[in-house]
Amino acid sequence: MGSGRRRGNAVQRADLVIVANRLPVDRVVEADGSTTWRRSPGGLVSALSPVMNTQEGAWIGWPGDVGEDLAPFENEGMTLVPVSMSAEEYEEYYEGFSNATLWPLYHDLVAKPEFHREWWDSYVAVNRRFAEAAAAVAAEHAMVWIQDYQLQLVPALLRDLRPDLRIGFFLHIPFPPAELFSQLPWRRELLQGLLGADLVGFQLPGAAQNFIRLVRERVGHKTHRDSVYLPDGRMVTAKAFPISIDTAGFTELARSEPVQARAKQIREDLGNPRRIFLGIDRLDYTKGIYARLRAFSELIHDGHFTVEDATFVQVASPSRERVDQYRILRDDIDRLVGHINGDLGRLGRPAISYLNASFPREEMAALYVASDIMVVTPFRDGMNLVAKEYVACRYDDDGALVLSEFAGAAAELKQAYLVNPYDINGMKAQMLEAYRAEEKELAKRMRAMRKTIVENDVANWANNFLADLAAARPGHEKQVKPAKRS
Ligand code: F6P
Repeated sequence: MGSGRRRGNAVQRADLVIVANRLPVDRVVEADGSTTWRRSPGGLVSALSPVMNTQEGAWIGWPGDVGEDLAPFENEGMTLVPVSMSAEEYEEYYEGFSNATLWPLYHDLVAKPEFHREWWDSYVAVNRRFAEAAAAVAAEHAMVWIQDYQLQLVPALLRDLRPDLRIGFFLHIPFPPAELFSQLPWRRELLQGLLGADLVGFQLPGAAQNFIRLVRERVGHKTHRDSVYLPDGRMVTAKAFPISIDTAGFTELARSEPVQARAKQIREDLGNPRRIFLGIDRLDYTKGIYARLRAFSELIHDGHFTVEDATFVQVASPSRERVDQYRILRDDIDRLVGHINGDLGRLGRPAISYLNASFPREEMAALYVASDIMVVTPFRDGMNLVAKEYVACRYDDDGALVLSEFAGAAAELKQAYLVNPYDINGMKAQMLEAYRAEEKELAKRMRAMRKTIVENDVANWANNFLADLAAARPGHEKQVKPAKRS
């Protein structure tokens, strides 16, 4: 483990601080038992590392294990500041309030949210710990950028401790309409938490409008368009910044010889069918995996194609496995895949190849290259980066994307085969159209989608947000009234 960028015992104060639930590294235990940290493959960290390295950046987050206290350390030019979490906090703050209350509430109540007062108390306590860590590490007038639904109270807690900072917040998941959000017993506290920021970013303009309306109705502040006017003279802006991916990085990976060879191998292993359908998701009930597999199986059952013509590869990476709703989903999908393959498969030709596992970026790229039709059908999704990654990998302008209109990505990838994931017949029709489409039609659609993600990649996203945050004036400056003219 690195020693940290420190002066004496103190970590050097940072000009740009990222606060996220997780640190951007994974722990690796070496053969000799020592611990090292490997940069995790996320788009956020690759977008931010150039700015972090030039600006004395620090990243505050949970290191991934409970009940341990780690000192700040250095990793690839970034200071990492671990925030500890007890086993009980992991259950109440992470599995409980974040993933069994907020997650379903913010995703259109696809599952029923649970409201427990002790989960809320834990959420407050852990948010406070993150805010204190940020207050300790941020240089004077630094920019602090807080990420996602697990940390919505940090902006206000941090502002109390450090009014000199420019504070930004970005929500990676949807922000629900007032009618749903209002179920939350702590709705006002949560809105006030977010209002500690100078800039609150969302994936879509509709989410920013939901927030503005709630602030007006539930907190009673004056609002105009994307601005909230606080009684102390501070102004908060709420705006959409649709997140993206490292487009050039994915395209380059897809073109690389090892990925090309692996893609060819995958097609051969699957028996070189005419069309390969692909789904890649976290195993989450918001993703619509069950409905899409049913739709595919019905196309075979109805005789539109056979298991020799087409196969479906579904990768579902394990996620939040101790949360009840996730366990139920896993059992449901296991059963469904068993039924479908039992009914429709032939020897050596399952209708669905189901992999309950996570894969490195290279293998994902090979799957994207190997597949003809990517199927992304969430009931609700903040953005969905898998859809964008698939498009980035189709550098020959081929392949089809079947995409739920309820994924944030649908606002940009308009040339996809758009579907309503609640409408199985509609989904079947679009999957069949993608299956039968002529090359020319596919190329026209893919070319337009590729243009979109080349123009807005993750570096653009981060730069746009940080430029707006830099232009925001922190609270204490706003209160200075202009001198009266004599
Ligand atoms: O989409 C929201 C998100 O929190 C992502 O930021 C993250 O990659 C994913 O869900 C998985 O989250 P978790 O940290 O719960 O494994």
